[in-house]
Amino acid sequence: MRRLRLAILISGRGSNMESLLHAARDPAYPAEPVLVLSNRPDAKGLLTAEAAGIPVAAIDHKTYGKDREAFEYHVDATLRGAGVEIIALAGFMRVLTPWFVSRWEGRMINIHPSLLPKHKGLDTHQRALDAGDTEAGCSVHWVSAGVDEGEIISQASVPILPGDTADTLAARVLPEEHKLYPKALALACAQIAEKL
Ligand code: GRF
Repeated sequence: MRRLRLAILISGRGSNMESLLHAARDPAYPAEPVLVLSNRPDAKGLLTAEAAGIPVAAIDHKTYGKDREAFEYHVDATLRGAGVEIIALAGFMRVLTPWFVSRWEGRMINIHPSLLPKHKGLDTHQRALDAGDTEAGCSVHWVSAGVDEGEIISQASVPILPGDTADTLAARVLPEEHKLYPKALALACAQIAEKL
């Protein structure tokens, strides 16, 4: 199978990005990272990507004020300029407009730190604790117009233990995210390849 040209969109630490870059070092992996893009120029993950020899771009959303589409127009043009075929959102903290989502529908996936459809949006771990859930986890899904609402590709769960805080739970979920995302991205690539 031909490797799909992958862009990873981040806003911060980039540990999920790192797990994708690591998986893609295998020449048999179905995606080839061609760009890491951040909406925050100070994202630590940009340094990690650069050190791994991956082209990086920073497009600061603050420059565009409230004009989300102007920001996204620039992101879209940068992705197309790099010949990107699939996007993995990895801790990308901007809500995307329907315009951008429709441009990339079926070509864009996201990782979310909850067992969707539970706990869409922010503060997922605290909300899982507050709800009295007995398990938590993470989901990789196709991105659709509704936030964290697209079709689920794959999930992993962990137990919630007595005495857990949002931090201890996050620390239990994160390694699962790092295992799940490369597998789910490979599944997404296979689904795209079927349609090519
Ligand atoms: C992860 O928990 C991811 O699920 C969420 O934001 C966090 C990003 O962490 N969307 P990192 O930047 O990948 O380390």
